[in-house]
Amino acid sequence: MKRVDDFRLQFGNRELVPIMVGGMGVDISTAELSLEAARLGGIGHISDAMLPTVSDRRYNTKYVKNKLKQYKFNVENPDKSVVQFDLGLVAEATATHVRRTMEAKRGDGLIFINCMEKLTMNSPKETLRARLLAAMDNGIDGITLAAGLHLGSFALIEEHPRFRDVKLGIIVSSLRALQLFLKKNSRTGRMPDYVVVEGPLAGGHLGFGLDWAEYDLATILIEVRDWLKAEQLDIPLIPAGGIFTGSDAVGFLELGASAVQVATRFTVTRECGLPEDVKQDYFKVSEDEIEVNQISPTGYPMRMLKSSPAIGSGIRPNCEAYGYLLDSKGNCQYIEAYNREVAAHPDAKKVKVWDKTCLCTHMRNFDCWTCGQYTYRLKNTSRRQEDGNYQLLSAEHVFRDYQFSTDGRIALPE
Ligand SMILES: Cc1cc2nc3c(=O)[nH]c(=O)nc-3n(C[C@H](O)[C@H](O)[C@H](O)COP(=O)(O)O)c2cc1C
Repeated sequence: MKRVDDFRLQFGNRELVPIMVGGMGVDISTAELSLEAARLGGIGHISDAMLPTVSDRRYNTKYVKNKLKQYKFNVENPDKSVVQFDLGLVAEATATHVRRTMEAKRGDGLIFINCMEKLTMNSPKETLRARLLAAMDNGIDGITLAAGLHLGSFALIEEHPRFRDVKLGIIVSSLRALQLFLKKNSRTGRMPDYVVVEGPLAGGHLGFGLDWAEYDLATILIEVRDWLKAEQLDIPLIPAGGIFTGSDAVGFLELGASAVQVATRFTVTRECGLPEDVKQDYFKVSEDEIEVNQISPTGYPMRMLKSSPAIGSGIRPNCEAYGYLLDSKGNCQYIEAYNREVAAHPDAKKVKVWDKTCLCTHMRNFDCWTCGQYTYRLKNTSRRQEDGNYQLLSAEHVFRDYQFSTDGRIALPE
């Protein structure tokens, strides 16, 4: 029986272990996690989500405090259109994170940045361009365009000297989304270097509706593969979502995938950015404690643990400090939901908001426990200790288990 290590991802004259650790915002796929994947010869992702906020925590900057100070006068105002990001500071925060990560890189693998296009930051095009250019300036190996696939994103960076050298990839969940992108993008004369085909079992935001269970990753992958072949397009395909063992990965590589993207198994590694107690919740959760809901103000369904503190929380919107989800007019679906509840309960000290959540605040605080569908299987990947908690894994252990396991087996830690 084959194992993942019998395959290689070919990028030009580069050969990589065909394992890509997916981006997990906000700083769940840390620099440390991505560096391990690269050291071991695969591809790791850092995330570009809320980098000014992440930078404050990691590098002791004061972006959030200063922005709140600048816009404090607006905190009570439901109209957030004045709350703008300073593009220079946005670029600076991306530059710091990318540069420091790339400086620490060892080994033959690559480090990509997962770019959440749905972070519209009150000025979608300009902030996205600033983030992408800063990542390229600072040596990122590749950019994966995710959540909200902006059909014109390649065009935003086509003047950059590294436009043809940096690896550019997109995430799609259907053949139609890929076709639309390629059509719109053809003007740049630049194909994606890889396409991540993300199925319905993935973590984070989903490219499916609440009928996600009716879709199947292998079926979508085959459809995309056959269409590319008929069009004589040679673009590496990287399936993602529910690939839990090395043998699952081999199944996709045998279908013609060039690599696999995986994430959930790495959420319980020491290098993952989630707090320790949340990692234990991920280990212990059962299948019926995981749901796909619509509380993300992005409008995309999102999978998470039902026990996430973000669900039902009615905190005041924090757009003056964060504001990453404000659209070009300064609106966010959470602001609307929050104001509605406040108006309906004028005497309440605290309100509950069930239909939307303040994603910025809760992702910042690791209170929105987004996860892949197979999170409930994580308990089978480690050992339970006497105190009832599970032994955390190393990213190297999980990576090598994907790379070398056969027969659907999962190696337990020493
Ligand atoms: C905790 C968590 C956070 C995620 N955040 C993001 C994200 O910010 N952007 C993104 O494109 N995908 C995100 N994903 C999706 C992963 O990158 C990946 O494609 C998918 O989860 C792979 O499926 P698996 O988790 O079953 O291995 C996230 C996944 C998890 C588990």
